[in-house]
Amino acid sequence: MQTIRVETPTAKYDVIAGSGLVATLAPRIERVVGRLPRRVFVLTSAPIWALWSDAFLSSFAEPPVTLFLPPGEEHKTLASVEKLLRQMALAGGDRGSLLIAFGGGIVGDVGGFLAAIYMRGIPYIQVPTTFLAQVDSSVGGKTGVNLPEGKNLVGSFHHPLAVFADIGVLGTLPERELKAGLMESVKAGIIRDRALVRFMEEHADEVLGRDARALEKVIAASIRMKAGVVKQDERERGLRMILNLGHTVGHALEQATGYKALLHGEAVGWGMVAALYLARKRGTISSGQFERLEALIHLYGPLPPLKLRAARVVAATGGDKKNLGGVRRFVLPVGIGDAGVVEDVSAAELEAAVGYMLAQAGEKHAG
Ligand SMILES: NC(=O)c1ccc[n+]([C@@H]2O[C@H](COP(=O)([O-])OP(=O)(O)OC[C@H]3O[C@@H](n4cnc5c(N)ncnc54)[C@H](O)[C@@H]3O)[C@@H](O)[C@H]2O)c1
Ligand SMILES: [Zn+2]
Repeated sequence: MQTIRVETPTAKYDVIAGSGLVATLAPRIERVVGRLPRRVFVLTSAPIWALWSDAFLSSFAEPPVTLFLPPGEEHKTLASVEKLLRQMALAGGDRGSLLIAFGGGIVGDVGGFLAAIYMRGIPYIQVPTTFLAQVDSSVGGKTGVNLPEGKNLVGSFHHPLAVFADIGVLGTLPERELKAGLMESVKAGIIRDRALVRFMEEHADEVLGRDARALEKVIAASIRMKAGVVKQDERERGLRMILNLGHTVGHALEQATGYKALLHGEAVGWGMVAALYLARKRGTISSGQFERLEALIHLYGPLPPLKLRAARVVAATGGDKKNLGGVRRFVLPVGIGDAGVVEDVSAAELEAAVGYMLAQAGEKHAG
């Protein structure tokens, strides 16, 4: 069990990573909030609830009111939010109510947003059930939903009172989801934590075999990295941008494939390959470091093959929300364990990097 303290100008809370948390939730939450309020809501989705409701409910004297979000990114909408807010009102939710978001990143983002706006804000707890949600989306206070015009365009910063990342629930997570989530940990290592890079290199079998100690180590290190960055830059005015390593091209890949062919982490994996190529060309990493980090990405693969034209991907990088005022922002690794943001990546450089990435994604991975 590891406890990581998140401290920002607006919030202070603990993230607890370890085994057996879901089955002991009620007393743990009471330690944070005092007595449980009259109305406790749990937002989840049916497949997760089918697997984990017995464990979840086992520590509650009175079962929370269950709210369901259908699985899938297409339900991360304002329409879902309105429906759920009305269910909360109907069930007698008041300002003192507590919401528990129990699911992957989608449930976490929607749950956090419900908590941010119901009666102008109620407290909430994150109980993330995917690897990605444990290491990334449940920490940092970003909540929200998509619009038809783009992902995550509506939302709010609203930090949870606590995050309980139970390694045991990852036991039922599909392999592909686990591997995709692990790309965010690879990213964490590359931008801020050399020791995590080494650990992931040396212990891939244990990590991928879901050994509890190995997973706890990777998860805790990834959360610590994110907490450290968010502490210094809660609102993404500077440093927090480095969390977007691999995401400029990654988002472009997601967009160019209609958000269907790739999981987010897989797109980020390929996006990191492009970023590594660019960094090597610019000399912010050596050839040796390039090879080592590229190998690390593939160690947690295979990433799905890509059948896209470079021009299509390059064009899609223009639409990234992180590009302020039309500037194409790019996070590049600096050695192993550091990163910086550059804004002067030329079209030719980007094309070369995307070309390299697509060649890798065709060759090694076709068939
Ligand atoms: N707020 C942030 O800072 C932030 C950061 C990164 C990503 N996100 C958001 O997170 C979302 C993606 O989250 P995700 O990757 O967790 O996807 P997800 O929430 O869709 O979960 C993936 C799938 O796994 C299933 N699942 C979840 N837990 C399971 C378990 N323990 N066992 C079996 N199946 C399980 C879900 O039902 C779903 O089908 C995106 O909407 C993204 O925008 C937010
Ligand atoms: Zn990401």
